[in-house]
Amino acid sequence: MQNDEKSAIQDSDAVAARLAIDGGTPVRTEPLPLEFPGIHHMGAEEVEAAARVVRSRSLFRYYGVELQKEVETFESEFARFLDVSHMLAVSSGTAALGVALAALGVGPGQEVIVPAYMWVSVAAAVVNRGAIPVLADIDDTFCIDPKSLAERISSKTTGIIVVHMSGAPADIQAIRKVADGRKLFLLEDCAQCIGGSVNGKRVGTFGDMGVFSFQMNKNMTSGEGGAVVTNTRRLYDRAFACHDLGYARNEHGRLILNNPDMCLWGQGCRLDELRASVLRVQLTKLTQITASMHRSKYRIREALEKLSGINLRRIVDPAGDTSPFLITTYQDPETAKNVNKALRAEGIVTHPQGLSNILMTEWGFHLYYNIASLVQMTSVDRGGFPWTLKENSGLRMQYAKGTCPVADSLFERSILIAIPSSLTERDESDIIRAFEKVHQALLSV
Ligand SMILES: Cc1ncc(COP(=O)(O)O)c(C=O)c1O
Repeated sequence: MQNDEKSAIQDSDAVAARLAIDGGTPVRTEPLPLEFPGIHHMGAEEVEAAARVVRSRSLFRYYGVELQKEVETFESEFARFLDVSHMLAVSSGTAALGVALAALGVGPGQEVIVPAYMWVSVAAAVVNRGAIPVLADIDDTFCIDPKSLAERISSKTTGIIVVHMSGAPADIQAIRKVADGRKLFLLEDCAQCIGGSVNGKRVGTFGDMGVFSFQMNKNMTSGEGGAVVTNTRRLYDRAFACHDLGYARNEHGRLILNNPDMCLWGQGCRLDELRASVLRVQLTKLTQITASMHRSKYRIREALEKLSGINLRRIVDPAGDTSPFLITTYQDPETAKNVNKALRAEGIVTHPQGLSNILMTEWGFHLYYNIASLVQMTSVDRGGFPWTLKENSGLRMQYAKGTCPVADSLFERSILIAIPSSLTERDESDIIRAFEKVHQALLSV
């Protein structure tokens, strides 16, 4: 080889090794796929299911011209998948939380513990029932820390909402022990972890009740939708009445008006036949959807384990991680910011409406201190409900940044990367290569 040729190759190697942020060649220029897990697997089967319902002209679950019983069938299929006795389909995950808390009898004068890393709907569900959310800190699972949970229980605490965040289960067995020891209800929010499990048991079946969301970002979807599950018949009956008009129904879908025990108040959040038909198909694909994200995420995690200075989120049971997100943590906020910026410059980004690769402090309503209505304790009425209710006086209402110091530190030092269910091996290799490049330039000593 001529000297000129050799030096040209060396020059191009140097450009490839140089970070894109410093003028080097980026690892990739094509955006990564959008994150929506169920959407990538949506096809002719969902179209046919929805068309079947429209053809039947029976879009309401309880009666119709030619009733298909899609909601009822979906409820049995999802209950079988989870191995739980009762499943109630509802119109959203937010609705599911509201219905579950109503079934559990939550109201003024009660504290309900929620994690620092959650979603606005979790706090909203507690506030809408007139109760007070109390924050517990998280640990390196990015879910509620059983120790912080135990510390934040008071004589006014009636229950705990554990949220299986970003696709991976919380340390649910330890949390269940705390709940049992203090005789508190345990509600599992599985919106972001549909199909997840710990030691082979599905999330949603450890607590007194479990809730799910089928909104478009979730592992399976009908655009909007939700579910409430429980093994307790009475909780199911109450949830059923509360999700509908406040009353039970008979086997023909007719309201039962003479049961004094089920004369409650409804929240009007039934699921319709159209979305249930799509969810039935998505459920048949769920294992394939989560398996593809799991394969991609664990290939990337294995590569990152070799790189010093990059800490991986602790996963309670890797086999039960549904894997829509990868979280990495760095020694300080400055390093996390620089790594994120450098990775983005290497092309680890997606189309503008997608998420792909963000510093966790940018993760909106998932962080307690980003929820303005919580921090400012706002009300929809003029009387300051529920904060000013006399039953709630003296309850703990602390929501400003600093209330959960471990969460605060983890959020500032961590990066969240979406793992779409359609990543190719090439996409995975690019993500690994970008991390290796950034590690070499910024983290290796
Ligand atoms: C943890 C969690 N709980 C509840 C919800 C609310 O679900 P939905 O959007 O279906 O109302 C979400 C939605 O993103 C969520 O992430």
